[in-house]
Amino acid sequence: MEPRRFVKELVDMVSDFCRALDAQPPAYSYIPLSSDEQRVRVMKSRLFNEQRAADLFGGWLKTTPEFEVRAVLAESAHEEMEHAQLLANRIRQLGGDPFDYHPLPAQVAMFNAMEGLPDTVQRIAGFSLAGESVATYLIRKMLDAPSVPNWIKEPYRRITQDEEGHASMPQEMLNRYAITPAQQDAARRAVAMRLILFQAYLASLDRWALGQSDW
Ligand SMILES: [Fe+2]
Ligand SMILES: [Fe+2]
Repeated sequence: MEPRRFVKELVDMVSDFCRALDAQPPAYSYIPLSSDEQRVRVMKSRLFNEQRAADLFGGWLKTTPEFEVRAVLAESAHEEMEHAQLLANRIRQLGGDPFDYHPLPAQVAMFNAMEGLPDTVQRIAGFSLAGESVATYLIRKMLDAPSVPNWIKEPYRRITQDEEGHASMPQEMLNRYAITPAQQDAARRAVAMRLILFQAYLASLDRWALGQSDW
């Protein structure tokens, strides 16, 4: 398939996923939450995500031959740690311990699955294109939501600037490198896997943040 058409297909998969969340925004977006205790829980879970994102970007460097992708990965690893710092500081200001969080099993599975993706095309498709787009979509929605207090919005205004700064990168890289039918099929499956696992994580976070279940 012609690369541009192929990338559009992936972007449409992710957009459909995002739109399906509109009817009932997840706890991950902070929008449905009603207490600061719940909000701090979600922020701790998202602090874990920022750190795991840094792990993955940094860990992939050694097995990434493409020079310009390596540069993006290294910069992203640094940015994700800056996001982690912002959230950790905010949690402390609210009287919480940023590092007493036990990741949800579905969340661990999602990152481990992404970490196991074997090449640049699958990693960029599954992790950057699919995951970061969903995160950015929900951050924008949250920044517009009157139910979300400013102490949450503040760090995310900074975070979203970074994410929007390189929002087009995954599409450019896939245009360049996802050329063969086999690569495109693997990338498509990586996106599907990410969305299935993201859905499981969102559902788990809904239950745990509202105190309904351990995970
Ligand atoms: Fe981040
Ligand atoms: Fe990110």
